[in-house]
Amino acid sequence: MTALAGVPFFVRTFGCQMNELDSERIAGMLAEAGARKAGTLEESRLVIVNTCAVRQKSEEKLYSYLGRLRGWKRRRGGLIVVAGCVSQLERERIFERCPDIDLVAGPDNYDRLARLLAEGLTARTVLAGRVREWREDTRGTAFRESPASAFVTIMEGCDNFCSYCVVPFARGRAKYRPLGAILEEAGRLGEAGTREVQLLGQNVNTYRDPETGASFAALLERVDAIPGIEWIRFLTSHPRDLGPETVAAMAAARRVCRQIHLPLQAGATAVLARMNRGYTRQDYLDRVSQLRDRMPEIALSTDIIVGYPGETEAEFAETLTALETIGFASIFSFKYSPRPRTAAARLADDVPAEVKRRRLLEVQTLQEGIQTRYHRGFIGRTIRVLGAGPSRKDPRVHSGRSEGNLVVNFEAAGGVSGRFVRVEITSAGPYSLRGILTE
Ligand code: 5AD
Ligand code: SF4
Repeated sequence: MTALAGVPFFVRTFGCQMNELDSERIAGMLAEAGARKAGTLEESRLVIVNTCAVRQKSEEKLYSYLGRLRGWKRRRGGLIVVAGCVSQLERERIFERCPDIDLVAGPDNYDRLARLLAEGLTARTVLAGRVREWREDTRGTAFRESPASAFVTIMEGCDNFCSYCVVPFARGRAKYRPLGAILEEAGRLGEAGTREVQLLGQNVNTYRDPETGASFAALLERVDAIPGIEWIRFLTSHPRDLGPETVAAMAAARRVCRQIHLPLQAGATAVLARMNRGYTRQDYLDRVSQLRDRMPEIALSTDIIVGYPGETEAEFAETLTALETIGFASIFSFKYSPRPRTAAARLADDVPAEVKRRRLLEVQTLQEGIQTRYHRGFIGRTIRVLGAGPSRKDPRVHSGRSEGNLVVNFEAAGGVSGRFVRVEITSAGPYSLRGILTE
């Protein structure tokens, strides 16, 4: 018997896909120790909050959630565990802002987190040790939410030090998972009915098998051969490290989706240099041409930051023209915010808040038009969609994703989640396509 036997737990996740997978791993380890997943926070007696530190706004959302947990703790008397990137960066300091927290654990400590809870926590604890090398034995078995689609980590951490980015401090230096372990996990998933695998890492293109030195391109080729897996995606790519070998491997692979997330961040070379991105505007445009030459249908998505220190109107205008020239299928856009320990935090955050707001709105308005036009191009075509599940508002309306990762809504009598279906597109808006099931 462990102290977790029968304990209902609830996990709240902020941040990226890596955090989503980590939450599933934590849930898997807790379930193995006898705890059980609760449907809601109210039903739980243990809550794990998995945190993101990438932008100031992510942290603000976290602290507002932690404020809400205060009442829950009073009512339920449960334990509050804070995991993730904020834990790694803040450690004991989190207690000053939120004295109700019982355990703080950084990303390298989730196996210890589960063990400690199973043994029974006796005092407030911080687990924020760092692990330099990849350790397969600490990974646990993820409790996956959606069996049809799964994330598989191939590397973790980052050595790039983009001037604005806190990730190297939160996730540590890059460490690579052995190819054998990746193939084994993906193979097991394929056998168990997983149809889509998303290979995860902060900079997947620098992948090197620590045992054989095999490249990311070689990894793609091997995953492409795994029975059962029909769609392979990977994220995140870095424009500097996406070499011709990877583009060729993508094009040659049968199951690698014609889709890539390639963060541009800014359209002006001078801003990219100040961000320490390691590529120019032209380099990025060249990468896009290489991808489109080999895979004309490829859907590109990107991340954009507006209002980086010193960004002039003329520099910002280059971000708009880059968006127009490239025509992304979707973008994530953010206002710059200074993050602790980063190089940019030493610069004056000198673009006024209202200018950042206006630039963000300009980016988003421009992109809405681009997306609407792009989506309308699909009207009349029948495309393959991986069903995800019914909509909450109307159970007859199902949602899924296309190979290009576009959201597709369609009516179905039921039972399409995790299945490939064909949908004839009948209408389109800026954020999704709509169609009718043809089989
Ligand atoms: N301010 C605003 N956006 C940021 N991002 C990373 N750091 C910051 C920051 N300090 C954005 C980048 C990155 C995405 C995950 O978050 O666009 O690609
Ligand atoms: Fe993910 Fe970065 Fe946020 Fe950590 S800080 S959760 S790695 S986006």
